[in-house]
Amino acid sequence: MSGIGSGGERRTSLHGFWSSRLAFVLAVTGSAVGLGNIWKFPYMTGQYGGGAFVLVYLLAVLLIGLPIMMAEILIGRRGRRNPVTTMRLLGEEESGTRHWQWVGALGLLGGFLILSFYSVIAGWTVAYIFEAASGAFNGATPAEINARFSALEGSPWRTGFWHTVFMLGTILIVARGVERGLEQAVRVMVPGLVVILLLLLAYAIGTGAMGPALEFMFRPDFSAITGGVVLAAMGQAFFSLSIGMACVMAYGAYLPQDASISGTAAAVVAGDTIIALLAGLVIFPIVFANGLDPAEGIGLVFKTLPLAFGGMTGGLLVGVLFFLLLGFAAMTSAISLMEPSVAWAMERFGINRALAGSYVGGVIWVLGFATVLSFSWLSDFRFLAGTLFDNIDFLTSNITLPLGGLLITLFAGWFMSANSTAAELDPRAGALYRCWRVLVRWVTPALVVVVFLNSLGLFR
Ligand code: TRP
Repeated sequence: MSGIGSGGERRTSLHGFWSSRLAFVLAVTGSAVGLGNIWKFPYMTGQYGGGAFVLVYLLAVLLIGLPIMMAEILIGRRGRRNPVTTMRLLGEEESGTRHWQWVGALGLLGGFLILSFYSVIAGWTVAYIFEAASGAFNGATPAEINARFSALEGSPWRTGFWHTVFMLGTILIVARGVERGLEQAVRVMVPGLVVILLLLLAYAIGTGAMGPALEFMFRPDFSAITGGVVLAAMGQAFFSLSIGMACVMAYGAYLPQDASISGTAAAVVAGDTIIALLAGLVIFPIVFANGLDPAEGIGLVFKTLPLAFGGMTGGLLVGVLFFLLLGFAAMTSAISLMEPSVAWAMERFGINRALAGSYVGGVIWVLGFATVLSFSWLSDFRFLAGTLFDNIDFLTSNITLPLGGLLITLFAGWFMSANSTAAELDPRAGALYRCWRVLVRWVTPALVVVVFLNSLGLFR
C-alpha cells in the first residue's frame, strides 16, 4: 500500500488513505476555509485597527503559519496514527520520551473547546439560510437588519436549536467516514463560495465605498500595532489555517507517501488567505457606504451582507446560496476539529467511527451551551477576557493554539533528526528544505515566544 515508502519500515495508516494528493489538498482546504475567513477575519480586522491587523496577520501567516503547517503534515504522515499516539511514537523514536504525547492531548482539548463555540456561530449561518429565503432582507434598512441579528443572538432557544442542528449534521457526516463525501463537498463548495464572493465584490464596488475600504485594510497605522493586536493577529493566523491543535496532523496521517508536503501547504495557505482578504473587501465597502461601525464585533458579517442581498437583483437566491455554502464550509471545518478526538477514541477504545463521533460530538454539543448562553442569559457574567464565549475564544486562539504550534515547531526543528524530516519533505528541493529548517528551528519559535512575552502586559 502507498504507506510503505522509500524508508522501508514505514508505518501504514489505520484508517485508510486519501484517494490522491488532490483529495488531501481538498480536505485541508475544507478544514482551513470556514467561519475563520468570512466571519472572524473581517470582524477582527475591524476591531483591531484595519491595516495594522492585516499587515501583522499576513506576516504571521507566512513566517509562522506556513512552516507550522508543513511540520504538522510531516509529523502526521510519519506517525500515521491519531495525534496523541503519533506524538508518543515519534517522541520515543526521536528523543526517547513519551511526553510529547501531551502535545497531541492539548490538541484534542483545543478541538473540543473551539468546536463548542464554532458550532454556535455556524448555527447562526444555518439560521440565515432561512432568513435569506424568507425575503426579509429585501430593501431592509441597516436598523432592521441589525434588529434581526440581535433577536437571533439574544434568543437562547433559537441559537441553541440551530447549534443542535449543526452539531447533529456534523456528527452524522463524521460517523460516515472522512473520505466519503468530503472530497466532493469541498470540490463544489470552495469554488462556489469564491464565485459568490466575487459577485458580492461587484456589488461592493458599486457602493462607491471601495476607496475607504482599501485604505482601511491596507494602509496600516503603525502606531496601532500594540501587543494586543499582534497577539490577536497571530491567534487568527493559527485559527484560520487550522494549525496548532494537531488537526492538520490528524489529516496528514492519511496522506500518501509520494505527495509533496510543501506544495500542498503552500496551496492551502495561499487559498485561505485570498478568501479571507476577499471577505474583507466585500464587507468593508458595505460598512462604510452605510455608515456602520467597522468595530461592530461578532455580528459584523450578519449585519452587512444581508444589506447586499437585500439591495441587489437576484439577491434572494444569492443570499440563500451564500449562507448555504458558508454552512457547508463551516461543516468541513467542524469535521476536522473533531477528527483528532475521533481518531484517538477509535484507536484507544477500539470503537467504531460512528460511536466515537457520537461521544465526542455529544460532549461538544453540551459545552456549546456555554456559548449559547453567553449572548443571552449569561451575557452579564464576565471575567478575564469577557463572557464565557470570549474566554473560550481567547484561551484557544491566543493561548492553546500558539502553544501547541510552538511545541510542534520545536519538536520538528530540534528533536526530530534532519534525516527524518528531510525524508518526509521533498528531498529534491534542497534549498527549500534548508529554508524551512531555519524557520522551524529559529524564526517561527522565536516569533511565537516574542509575541507571547510581548502580550504579557495585557494580563497586568
Ligand atoms: N480554520 C477553520 C476556519 O477558519 C476553523 C478550524 C478548523 C480550526 N480546524 C481547526 C481552527 C483547527 C483551529 C484549529 O473556520
